[in-house]
Amino acid sequence: MVHGTGTRGSPISSGHPELSFFLLSPEVAGGWGSHIQVDRRTHPPLVTRMHYEFEGWLGDDLLTTFPEFIVTERLATALEQSSLSGFRLADVKVSAGDLWEQLYGSRPLPKCRWLRVSGRAGAADFGLTELAHLVVSAPALELLRSLTLRACEVSPWQVLILGATGGTGRQLVSQALERGHQVTAFARNPGRVRPRHERLTVAQGDVLDYRSLDTAMTGQGAVLSALGHKRWFYPNRILSTGTRNLIQAMEHHGVRRLVCETALGIGNSRGRAGLYYTLFVAPFILPFYFRDKERQEEIIRASSLDWVIVRPGMLTNGRRRRRYRHGSDVGHWLWTCRVSRADVADFMLRQLSDDTYLRRSPGIC
Ligand SMILES: NC(=O)c1ccc[n+]([C@@H]2O[C@H](COP(=O)([O-])OP(=O)(O)OC[C@H]3O[C@@H](n4cnc5c(N)ncnc54)[C@H](OP(=O)(O)O)[C@@H]3O)[C@@H](O)[C@H]2O)c1
Repeated sequence: MVHGTGTRGSPISSGHPELSFFLLSPEVAGGWGSHIQVDRRTHPPLVTRMHYEFEGWLGDDLLTTFPEFIVTERLATALEQSSLSGFRLADVKVSAGDLWEQLYGSRPLPKCRWLRVSGRAGAADFGLTELAHLVVSAPALELLRSLTLRACEVSPWQVLILGATGGTGRQLVSQALERGHQVTAFARNPGRVRPRHERLTVAQGDVLDYRSLDTAMTGQGAVLSALGHKRWFYPNRILSTGTRNLIQAMEHHGVRRLVCETALGIGNSRGRAGLYYTLFVAPFILPFYFRDKERQEEIIRASSLDWVIVRPGMLTNGRRRRRYRHGSDVGHWLWTCRVSRADVADFMLRQLSDDTYLRRSPGIC
Protein backbone atom coordinates (compact mmCIF):
# COMPACT_ATOMS: atom_id res chain seq x y z
CA MET A 1 0.00 0.00 0.00
CA VAL A 2 1.20 3.52 -0.70
CA HIS A 3 0.66 5.98 2.09
CA GLY A 4 -1.92 8.72 1.98
CA THR A 5 -5.09 6.89 2.93
CA GLY A 6 -6.38 6.02 6.35
CA THR A 7 -8.99 6.45 8.97
CA ARG A 8 -9.01 10.03 10.12
CA GLY A 9 -10.51 11.47 13.23
CA SER A 10 -11.01 8.05 14.77
CA PRO A 11 -11.45 7.78 18.52
CA ILE A 12 -8.14 7.97 20.31
CA SER A 13 -8.23 7.41 24.00
CA SER A 14 -5.69 8.90 26.31
CA GLY A 15 -5.13 8.30 30.00
CA HIS A 16 -5.92 11.04 32.43
CA PRO A 17 -8.51 13.22 30.70
CA GLU A 18 -7.74 16.27 32.81
CA LEU A 19 -4.17 16.28 31.46
CA SER A 20 -4.93 15.32 27.88
CA PHE A 21 -4.67 17.62 24.92
CA PHE A 22 -5.11 16.79 21.27
CA LEU A 23 -3.55 18.14 18.12
CA LEU A 24 -6.12 18.80 15.40
CA SER A 25 -5.72 19.22 11.63
CA PRO A 26 -9.25 20.17 10.60
CA GLU A 27 -10.82 19.78 7.18
CA VAL A 28 -9.66 22.30 4.58
CA ALA A 29 -12.86 23.03 2.66
CA GLY A 30 -11.59 26.13 0.89
CA GLY A 31 -9.15 29.00 1.21
CA TRP A 32 -8.75 32.74 1.62
CA GLY A 33 -11.32 34.77 -0.25
CA SER A 34 -10.43 38.06 -1.92
CA HIS A 35 -11.98 40.14 0.90
CA ILE A 36 -9.63 38.81 3.57
CA GLN A 37 -7.59 41.43 5.43
CA VAL A 38 -4.25 40.00 6.35
CA ASP A 39 -0.79 41.18 7.34
CA ARG A 40 1.63 38.75 5.69
CA ARG A 41 4.76 40.25 7.19
CA THR A 42 4.49 38.01 10.26
CA HIS A 43 4.51 34.23 10.48
CA PRO A 44 1.85 33.04 10.97
CA PRO A 45 0.13 35.85 9.03
CA LEU A 46 -2.17 38.12 11.04
CA VAL A 47 -5.77 38.05 9.81
CA THR A 48 -7.98 41.00 10.82
CA ARG A 49 -10.97 40.30 8.56
CA MET A 50 -11.89 36.78 7.51
CA HIS A 51 -13.27 35.69 4.15
CA TYR A 52 -13.53 31.92 3.51
CA GLU A 53 -14.08 30.76 -0.05
CA PHE A 54 -15.56 27.24 -0.13
CA GLU A 55 -14.35 24.78 -2.78
CA GLY A 56 -15.38 21.30 -1.56
CA TRP A 57 -16.88 20.33 1.80
CA LEU A 58 -16.88 16.87 3.40
CA GLY A 59 -19.34 18.05 6.02
CA ASP A 60 -17.23 18.77 9.13
CA ASP A 61 -18.35 21.50 11.52
CA LEU A 62 -14.77 22.71 12.12
CA LEU A 63 -12.82 23.94 9.09
CA THR A 64 -9.54 25.66 8.48
CA THR A 65 -7.43 27.61 6.08
CA PHE A 66 -4.04 28.45 7.55
CA PRO A 67 -3.80 30.10 10.04
CA GLU A 68 -7.51 30.52 10.85
CA PHE A 69 -10.50 28.34 11.76
CA ILE A 70 -14.18 28.65 11.00
CA VAL A 71 -17.12 26.73 12.46
CA THR A 72 -20.64 26.04 11.29
CA GLU A 73 -23.42 27.93 13.02
CA ARG A 74 -24.54 24.84 14.94
CA LEU A 75 -21.02 24.35 16.34
CA ALA A 76 -20.81 28.06 17.13
CA THR A 77 -24.04 27.75 19.16
CA ALA A 78 -22.71 24.70 21.04
CA LEU A 79 -19.47 26.56 21.79
CA GLU A 80 -21.33 29.64 23.03
CA GLN A 81 -23.35 27.47 25.38
CA SER A 82 -20.24 25.72 26.73
CA SER A 83 -17.84 26.94 29.39
CA LEU A 84 -14.79 26.16 27.25
CA SER A 85 -11.94 28.68 27.23
CA GLY A 86 -9.49 30.08 24.69
CA PHE A 87 -11.66 31.37 21.85
CA ARG A 88 -14.14 33.97 20.71
CA LEU A 89 -16.52 33.96 17.78
CA ALA A 90 -16.65 36.63 15.11
CA ASP A 91 -18.27 37.18 11.74
CA VAL A 92 -16.84 35.62 8.62
CA LYS A 93 -17.73 36.26 4.99
CA VAL A 94 -18.21 33.02 3.05
CA SER A 95 -18.47 32.59 -0.70
CA ALA A 96 -18.45 29.78 -3.25
CA GLY A 97 -15.38 29.20 -5.42
CA ASP A 98 -15.44 27.82 -8.95
CA LEU A 99 -14.95 24.24 -7.78
CA TRP A 100 -17.88 24.50 -5.37
CA GLU A 101 -20.13 25.59 -8.23
CA GLN A 102 -18.86 22.74 -10.42
CA LEU A 103 -19.34 20.17 -7.66
CA TYR A 104 -22.57 21.30 -6.06
CA GLY A 105 -24.21 23.74 -8.50
CA SER A 106 -26.35 26.18 -6.57
CA ARG A 107 -26.25 24.27 -3.26
CA PRO A 108 -26.31 26.89 -0.46
CA LEU A 109 -23.19 27.45 1.59
CA PRO A 110 -23.28 26.60 5.31
CA LYS A 111 -23.74 29.53 7.68
CA CYS A 112 -20.45 29.97 9.51
CA ARG A 113 -18.66 31.91 12.26
CA TRP A 114 -14.99 32.70 12.62
CA LEU A 115 -13.39 30.79 15.51
CA ARG A 116 -10.72 33.15 16.80
CA VAL A 117 -8.47 31.01 18.98
CA SER A 118 -6.74 33.08 21.65
CA GLY A 119 -5.58 30.45 24.16
CA ARG A 120 -2.10 28.98 24.48
CA ALA A 121 -1.66 25.33 23.50
CA GLY A 122 -1.90 23.12 26.56
CA ALA A 123 -3.21 25.92 28.80
CA ALA A 124 -6.73 26.65 27.47
CA ASP A 125 -9.46 24.40 26.00
CA PHE A 126 -8.68 25.92 22.60
CA GLY A 127 -5.06 26.90 22.12
CA LEU A 128 -2.48 27.56 19.45
CA THR A 129 1.19 26.71 19.24
CA GLU A 130 3.61 29.40 18.11
CA LEU A 131 3.08 28.11 14.54
CA ALA A 132 -0.74 28.17 14.80
CA HIS A 133 -1.31 24.43 15.24
CA LEU A 134 -4.68 23.91 16.95
CA VAL A 135 -4.52 22.09 20.30
CA VAL A 136 -7.72 21.32 22.21
CA SER A 137 -8.49 19.82 25.61
CA ALA A 138 -10.33 16.51 26.06
CA PRO A 139 -13.64 18.29 26.94
CA ALA A 140 -13.31 20.49 23.84
CA LEU A 141 -12.66 17.43 21.66
CA GLU A 142 -15.70 15.73 23.18
CA LEU A 143 -17.88 18.69 22.21
CA LEU A 144 -16.43 18.80 18.67
CA ARG A 145 -17.04 15.08 18.28
CA SER A 146 -20.66 15.41 19.39
CA LEU A 147 -21.11 17.15 16.01
CA THR A 148 -19.33 16.15 12.77
CA LEU A 149 -15.55 15.79 12.84
CA ARG A 150 -14.82 13.04 10.34
CA ALA A 151 -12.20 14.64 8.09
CA CYS A 152 -10.15 16.10 10.94
CA GLU A 153 -6.88 14.40 11.92
CA VAL A 154 -6.78 13.98 15.69
CA SER A 155 -3.67 12.85 17.55
CA PRO A 156 -2.50 13.02 21.15
CA TRP A 157 -0.58 16.25 21.62
CA GLN A 158 1.89 15.14 24.27
CA VAL A 159 4.22 12.41 23.03
CA LEU A 160 7.11 10.56 24.65
CA ILE A 161 9.91 9.51 22.29
CA LEU A 162 12.26 6.64 23.20
CA GLY A 163 15.59 6.35 21.41
CA ALA A 164 15.48 10.13 20.89
CA THR A 165 19.26 10.39 20.42
CA GLY A 166 19.37 7.70 17.72
CA GLY A 167 18.99 7.98 13.95
CA THR A 168 15.23 7.46 13.70
CA GLY A 169 14.65 9.04 17.12
CA ARG A 170 16.21 12.37 16.09
CA GLN A 171 13.93 12.43 13.06
CA LEU A 172 10.96 11.64 15.27
CA VAL A 173 11.79 14.52 17.61
CA SER A 174 12.24 17.13 14.87
CA GLN A 175 9.25 16.00 12.81
CA ALA A 176 6.99 15.79 15.89
CA LEU A 177 7.92 19.37 16.76
CA GLU A 178 7.30 20.46 13.18
CA ARG A 179 3.82 18.90 13.34
CA GLY A 180 3.03 20.81 16.52
CA HIS A 181 3.40 18.14 19.23
CA GLN A 182 4.58 18.73 22.76
CA VAL A 183 7.57 16.36 22.89
CA THR A 184 9.34 14.62 25.73
CA ALA A 185 12.60 13.03 24.59
CA PHE A 186 13.65 10.09 26.77
CA ALA A 187 17.43 9.79 26.76
CA ARG A 188 20.25 8.29 28.76
CA ASN A 189 22.34 11.34 27.97
CA PRO A 190 20.15 14.49 27.77
CA GLY A 191 23.04 16.53 26.38
CA ARG A 192 22.76 14.58 23.12
CA VAL A 193 19.14 15.58 22.46
CA ARG A 194 18.72 18.01 19.57
CA PRO A 195 17.28 20.52 18.73
CA ARG A 196 16.49 22.96 21.53
CA HIS A 197 12.84 23.95 21.30
CA GLU A 198 10.18 25.48 23.55
CA ARG A 199 7.92 22.44 23.03
CA LEU A 200 10.68 19.93 23.77
CA THR A 201 11.53 18.65 27.22
CA VAL A 202 14.08 15.99 28.01
CA ALA A 203 13.55 13.17 30.48
CA GLN A 204 16.74 11.49 31.58
CA GLY A 205 16.38 7.75 31.93
CA ASP A 206 17.19 4.22 30.89
CA VAL A 207 14.56 1.77 29.66
CA LEU A 208 16.06 -0.82 32.01
CA ASP A 209 15.15 1.46 34.92
CA TYR A 210 11.36 1.28 35.35
CA ARG A 211 11.20 4.27 37.67
CA SER A 212 12.69 6.63 35.08
CA LEU A 213 10.08 5.51 32.52
CA ASP A 214 7.28 5.85 35.03
CA THR A 215 8.34 9.44 35.82
CA ALA A 216 8.61 10.36 32.13
CA MET A 217 5.15 8.94 31.39
CA THR A 218 3.28 11.53 33.48
CA GLY A 219 0.97 13.60 31.25
CA GLN A 220 1.81 11.76 28.02
CA GLY A 221 -0.80 10.96 25.36
CA ALA A 222 1.20 8.45 23.30
CA VAL A 223 4.63 6.83 22.98
CA LEU A 224 6.89 6.45 19.93
CA SER A 225 9.79 4.04 20.34
CA ALA A 226 12.88 3.89 18.12
CA LEU A 227 14.91 1.97 20.65
CA GLY A 228 17.98 0.12 19.41
CA HIS A 229 21.55 -0.60 20.49
CA LYS A 230 24.90 -1.90 19.32
CA ARG A 231 25.42 -4.72 21.86
CA TRP A 232 24.73 -7.25 19.16
CA PHE A 233 27.32 -9.88 19.86
CA TYR A 234 26.19 -11.32 23.17
CA PRO A 235 22.80 -12.44 24.45
CA ASN A 236 20.84 -9.64 26.11
CA ARG A 237 17.27 -8.53 26.66
CA ILE A 238 17.64 -4.77 26.42
CA LEU A 239 14.83 -4.34 23.87
CA SER A 240 12.41 -6.83 25.41
CA THR A 241 12.99 -5.90 29.05
CA GLY A 242 12.94 -2.19 28.16
CA THR A 243 9.69 -2.63 26.27
CA ARG A 244 8.15 -4.63 29.12
CA ASN A 245 9.02 -1.75 31.47
CA LEU A 246 7.62 0.73 28.97
CA ILE A 247 4.30 -1.10 28.67
CA GLN A 248 4.01 -1.37 32.45
CA ALA A 249 4.56 2.39 32.77
CA MET A 250 2.04 3.11 29.99
CA GLU A 251 -0.56 0.90 31.66
CA HIS A 252 0.11 2.55 35.01
CA HIS A 253 -0.53 6.00 33.52
CA GLY A 254 -3.39 4.96 31.23
CA VAL A 255 -1.42 5.87 28.08
CA ARG A 256 -2.86 3.73 25.29
CA ARG A 257 -1.06 4.31 22.02
CA LEU A 258 2.38 2.81 21.31
CA VAL A 259 4.09 3.06 17.92
CA CYS A 260 7.24 0.93 18.01
CA GLU A 261 9.95 0.49 15.38
CA THR A 262 11.33 -3.06 15.03
CA ALA A 263 12.60 -4.53 11.71
CA LEU A 264 11.54 -6.34 8.59
CA GLY A 265 12.35 -10.04 9.05
CA ILE A 266 10.79 -10.25 12.51
CA GLY A 267 7.62 -12.25 13.30
CA ASN A 268 5.45 -12.98 10.29
CA SER A 269 7.68 -10.82 8.07
CA ARG A 270 10.42 -13.46 8.33
CA GLY A 271 12.08 -13.95 4.92
CA ARG A 272 11.02 -10.52 3.63
CA ALA A 273 14.26 -8.70 4.46
CA GLY A 274 16.07 -10.18 1.43
CA LEU A 275 18.34 -13.21 1.07
CA TYR A 276 21.43 -11.49 2.49
CA TYR A 277 19.62 -10.65 5.76
CA THR A 278 17.65 -13.89 5.99
CA LEU A 279 20.55 -16.29 5.34
CA PHE A 280 23.55 -14.32 6.62
CA VAL A 281 22.90 -11.28 8.83
CA ALA A 282 20.04 -12.66 10.95
CA PRO A 283 21.53 -16.10 11.72
CA PHE A 284 25.27 -15.22 11.85
CA ILE A 285 25.72 -11.50 12.66
CA LEU A 286 22.64 -10.50 14.67
CA PRO A 287 21.11 -13.72 16.07
CA PHE A 288 20.90 -12.39 19.65
CA TYR A 289 19.59 -9.02 18.52
CA PHE A 290 16.92 -10.58 16.30
CA ARG A 291 15.88 -12.98 19.07
CA ASP A 292 15.45 -10.06 21.45
CA LYS A 293 13.44 -8.17 18.82
CA GLU A 294 11.18 -11.23 18.43
CA ARG A 295 10.60 -11.17 22.20
CA GLN A 296 10.03 -7.41 22.09
CA GLU A 297 7.30 -7.80 19.46
CA GLU A 298 5.69 -10.70 21.37
CA ILE A 299 5.47 -8.54 24.50
CA ILE A 300 3.83 -5.71 22.57
CA ARG A 301 1.36 -8.04 20.85
CA ALA A 302 0.38 -9.59 24.18
CA SER A 303 -0.41 -6.18 25.67
CA SER A 304 -3.83 -4.58 25.69
CA LEU A 305 -2.45 -1.28 24.34
CA ASP A 306 -3.39 0.37 21.05
CA TRP A 307 -0.11 -0.60 19.41
CA VAL A 308 1.36 -0.35 15.93
CA ILE A 309 4.62 -2.19 15.22
CA VAL A 310 6.52 -0.58 12.33
CA ARG A 311 9.01 -2.84 10.53
CA PRO A 312 11.41 -0.97 8.24
CA GLY A 313 13.77 -2.55 5.73
CA MET A 314 17.41 -1.45 5.79
CA LEU A 315 17.65 2.10 7.18
CA THR A 316 19.42 4.95 5.40
CA ASN A 317 20.06 8.57 6.36
CA GLY A 318 18.40 9.81 3.18
CA ARG A 319 16.00 12.73 3.18
CA ARG A 320 12.27 12.56 3.85
CA ARG A 321 10.50 11.95 0.56
CA ARG A 322 7.10 10.92 1.95
CA ARG A 323 6.93 8.28 -0.75
CA TYR A 324 7.27 4.77 0.59
CA ARG A 325 5.44 1.47 0.51
CA HIS A 326 3.88 0.07 3.65
CA GLY A 327 1.80 -2.94 4.59
CA SER A 328 2.13 -6.67 5.18
CA ASP A 329 3.41 -7.40 1.66
CA VAL A 330 6.38 -5.02 1.85
CA GLY A 331 9.86 -6.53 1.35
CA HIS A 332 11.26 -9.23 -0.90
CA TRP A 333 12.73 -12.72 -0.33
CA LEU A 334 15.70 -11.92 -2.60
CA TRP A 335 16.43 -8.19 -2.50
CA THR A 336 17.19 -6.00 0.48
CA CYS A 337 14.86 -3.02 0.45
CA ARG A 338 15.81 0.34 1.92
CA VAL A 339 13.98 3.23 3.53
CA SER A 340 15.22 6.44 5.10
CA ARG A 341 14.94 7.03 8.83
CA ALA A 342 13.22 10.30 7.95
CA ASP A 343 10.45 8.46 6.07
CA VAL A 344 10.11 5.89 8.86
CA ALA A 345 9.61 8.75 11.33
CA ASP A 346 7.03 10.32 8.99
CA PHE A 347 5.11 7.03 8.85
CA MET A 348 5.37 6.44 12.62
CA LEU A 349 3.98 9.91 13.39
CA ARG A 350 1.07 9.27 11.04
CA GLN A 351 0.16 6.24 13.14
CA LEU A 352 -0.80 8.58 16.00
CA SER A 353 -3.93 9.71 14.18
CA ASP A 354 -4.62 6.74 11.92
CA ASP A 355 -6.19 3.43 12.95
CA THR A 356 -5.52 1.55 9.69
CA TYR A 357 -2.71 -0.48 11.29
CA LEU A 358 -4.00 -0.61 14.84
CA ARG A 359 -2.71 -3.86 16.46
CA ARG A 360 -0.92 -4.72 13.22
CA SER A 361 2.73 -4.79 12.09
CA PRO A 362 3.21 -3.14 8.69
CA GLY A 363 6.53 -3.29 6.91
CA ILE A 364 7.85 -0.09 5.31
CA CYS A 365 10.30 0.34 2.45
N1 LIG B 1 20.07 -0.20 10.82
C1 LIG B 1 19.18 -0.77 10.03
O1 LIG B 1 19.36 -0.95 8.82
C2 LIG B 1 17.85 -1.17 10.64
C3 LIG B 1 16.91 -1.79 9.83
C4 LIG B 1 15.64 -2.10 10.36
C5 LIG B 1 15.36 -1.82 11.69
N2 LIG B 1 16.32 -1.24 12.48
C6 LIG B 1 15.95 -0.94 13.88
O2 LIG B 1 15.39 0.36 13.95
C7 LIG B 1 15.58 0.87 15.28
C8 LIG B 1 16.18 2.28 15.20
O3 LIG B 1 17.43 2.21 14.57
P1 LIG B 1 18.34 3.54 14.43
O4 LIG B 1 19.59 3.11 13.75
O5 LIG B 1 17.54 4.63 13.86
O6 LIG B 1 18.59 3.89 15.97
P2 LIG B 1 19.98 3.98 16.77
O7 LIG B 1 20.80 5.05 16.14
O8 LIG B 1 20.57 2.62 16.95
O9 LIG B 1 19.46 4.54 18.18
C9 LIG B 1 18.99 3.73 19.21
C10 LIG B 1 18.48 4.61 20.33
O10 LIG B 1 18.11 3.77 21.45
C11 LIG B 1 18.67 4.34 22.62
N3 LIG B 1 18.91 3.37 23.69
C12 LIG B 1 19.68 2.27 23.63
N4 LIG B 1 19.68 1.64 24.81
C13 LIG B 1 18.90 2.38 25.64
C14 LIG B 1 18.52 2.26 27.00
N5 LIG B 1 18.94 1.22 27.75
N6 LIG B 1 17.70 3.18 27.53
C15 LIG B 1 17.26 4.23 26.78
N7 LIG B 1 17.60 4.40 25.49
C16 LIG B 1 18.41 3.49 24.93
C17 LIG B 1 19.97 4.95 22.16
O11 LIG B 1 20.41 5.86 23.13
P3 LIG B 1 21.98 6.24 23.32
O12 LIG B 1 22.22 7.40 22.40
O13 LIG B 1 22.07 6.61 24.76
O14 LIG B 1 22.78 5.02 22.96
C18 LIG B 1 19.52 5.60 20.86
O15 LIG B 1 18.88 6.82 21.13
C19 LIG B 1 16.48 -0.14 16.00
O16 LIG B 1 15.69 -0.98 16.77
C20 LIG B 1 17.11 -0.92 14.85
O17 LIG B 1 17.49 -2.23 15.22
C21 LIG B 1 17.55 -0.91 11.98
